[in-house]
Amino acid sequence: MRILAVGIATLDIVHLVEAYPAEDDEVRALGQRIVRGGNATNTLVVLSQLGHQCSWGGVLADTHDSRYILDDLANHNIDMSHVVCCKDGRTPLSCVVLSRQRGSRTIVHYRRLPEFSDKDFSGIDTDGFDWVHFEGRNVVQLGKMLQRMDGERNCSLEIEKPRQDIEALFSKAGLLMFSSGYARYRGFQNGAEFFSALGSQVRSGTLMTCAWGEQGAWGVDRSGAIHYSPAYLPHRTVDTLGAGDVFNAAIIHGVVSGDSMEKYLAAACRLAGEQCGRVGLSLRENGCPVDWK
Ligand code: ADP
Ligand code: FRU
Repeated sequence: MRILAVGIATLDIVHLVEAYPAEDDEVRALGQRIVRGGNATNTLVVLSQLGHQCSWGGVLADTHDSRYILDDLANHNIDMSHVVCCKDGRTPLSCVVLSRQRGSRTIVHYRRLPEFSDKDFSGIDTDGFDWVHFEGRNVVQLGKMLQRMDGERNCSLEIEKPRQDIEALFSKAGLLMFSSGYARYRGFQNGAEFFSALGSQVRSGTLMTCAWGEQGAWGVDRSGAIHYSPAYLPHRTVDTLGAGDVFNAAIIHGVVSGDSMEKYLAAACRLAGEQCGRVGLSLRENGCPVDWK
């Protein structure tokens, strides 16, 4: 399938430490890697490995650091013809501290770069895509982009962080992908309670997911029924960076493949859980594709 994702790419500087340090500590890292990150592009890289033709709609700074991003996306066959280059801005950068003891990832993110706008989006012929995915960021511009999709069901919106008026977008996408952080912010301790409270904020027939780390994930199918899948716990958790983006990719893959929610919710927990047992976002281990279904 042809899939477009609108969102960000970052440079992630990941330091592996034995345990998360205390404030004002000075610790020696056990390892370091510098990789491309960013929710939308992470999701695309996984979708590409699952066999889809992927395109990125996003903004790149005209800096040397963007080379990492361009090279990585090119290596994953991501089409970049809709990317906007900004002369005045910095490559978004995340300092990530990955704890060996817990596998947790703590992210400090810096961004000084314009967001992909509705004007940028208006130049894309969305009829050429089977699915369009949006990272829930600049709400005003996103509202206009979703309006252009004209209430079509074949688009998804990721709601990771609380943002002013983002709730106004809930009725405009066919698939809403919530984070546990957002559900907690709304005062809920699990996905089922959160979904039940959304009420008229969401159109009937809207697909929804809510990923909850080691506790697994919840989903709502088109009939409104709530589903749950436990997490798939790897032998050892080594890297949880991007787990949510892998999960979202697997959900989109399941929806465009016409699978049932029960099937793709479990498959997404499986793929994301397996990923937590490996370093990075490659679905291949020892050169062999991982059988994740
Ligand atoms: P994010 O990376 O956005 O914080 P989550 O932590 O909610 O996202 O993780 C998304 C999905 O990845 C979860 O629903 C779960 O299936 C899987 N996952 C995340 N952390 C772990 C873990 N430590 N062990 C197993 N699976 C995990
Ligand atoms: C992981 C991630 C990182 C990036 C950060 C941006 O989900 O996309 O790759 O640095 O989140 O918020």
